[in-house]
Amino acid sequence: MVNVMTQEVTDVQMKKYAKLIYDTAGIQVSLQKKQLMSNRLRRRLKATGIDCFDKYIKHLKSLKPSNPEWDCFLQEITTHETYLFRDETHWKWLQQTFMPEFVKEVTHNKRQKNLRVWSAACSTGDEAHSIACCVLDGIGLQQGWEINIIGTDIGIGAVEKAREGVFNQRAMKLVPDVMKKRYFDRMGQVDVWQAKPTIKKLLNFKQHNLLNSLNERPFDLVFLKNVLIYFNTESKLTAIKHVSKLMKPGSYLVAGGAEGIGDMMQGYERLHPWLFRKQ
Ligand SMILES: C[S@@+](CC[C@H](N)C(=O)[O-])C[C@H]1O[C@@H](n2cnc3c(N)ncnc32)[C@H](O)[C@@H]1O
Repeated sequence: MVNVMTQEVTDVQMKKYAKLIYDTAGIQVSLQKKQLMSNRLRRRLKATGIDCFDKYIKHLKSLKPSNPEWDCFLQEITTHETYLFRDETHWKWLQQTFMPEFVKEVTHNKRQKNLRVWSAACSTGDEAHSIACCVLDGIGLQQGWEINIIGTDIGIGAVEKAREGVFNQRAMKLVPDVMKKRYFDRMGQVDVWQAKPTIKKLLNFKQHNLLNSLNERPFDLVFLKNVLIYFNTESKLTAIKHVSKLMKPGSYLVAGGAEGIGDMMQGYERLHPWLFRKQ
């Protein structure tokens, strides 16, 4: 008898799983990565007590998307790598260019004290918390601002973690000391940090799939980083269409350096390889 725990997906099974993942999340899986897929699926077989890959895919397809097993499956096949202040250039731009310009326009009565930011595919919320720190620093002691930072991710588990706002030392390693003190509390003796209510109250996390539209009012700034890199052209275009619908004229899109969307951003001015402004 073949031991399931050492089995590898066949070419046919691999194609079926790749199609399911693509249809569900827009993520393109290389058909060559059979071993990686097998390792990930085996963990779900073990957890569910299902004894083969064919039965597991049938089982998944029989479940509603809201069933927790779908989230477990998606958590296995998606990459959640993230940490606060990842990609220094983006944060320098936010702190030194975007925020001062935005605040200046408010001072000159060219806009309201109202700022809406979307951290799309936010994983465990590290990016959204970094945004909150920069925004609060940017407005300084001014009163009366309405700030909304929405973080979304396809992973329910990721969104739940994001809501907790608790980060370990690895996630916090690039947070400037002054911000760490200002916006986080150390939890007991361990090197684990909890976001303070001052930044937590700006943040709102939701589960959302970028292949669908998001029911929100338009944003002044959107971060869409390190996610479209896993999509193919078709799913990238779908995600960009949904994101674009929620961007105000003149708003900015911060993308990852390797997202591969440069030629898909019609109606945007490209200010840096990673920065787009909606016209
Ligand atoms: C590598 S993390 C990026 C986190 C953060 N944006 C950053 O750059 O640090 C990629 C995230 O994309 C999410 N993701 C993958 N497919 C998605 C989809 N179709 N809709 C929304 N989020 C998705 C994953 O769950 C994962 O948390």
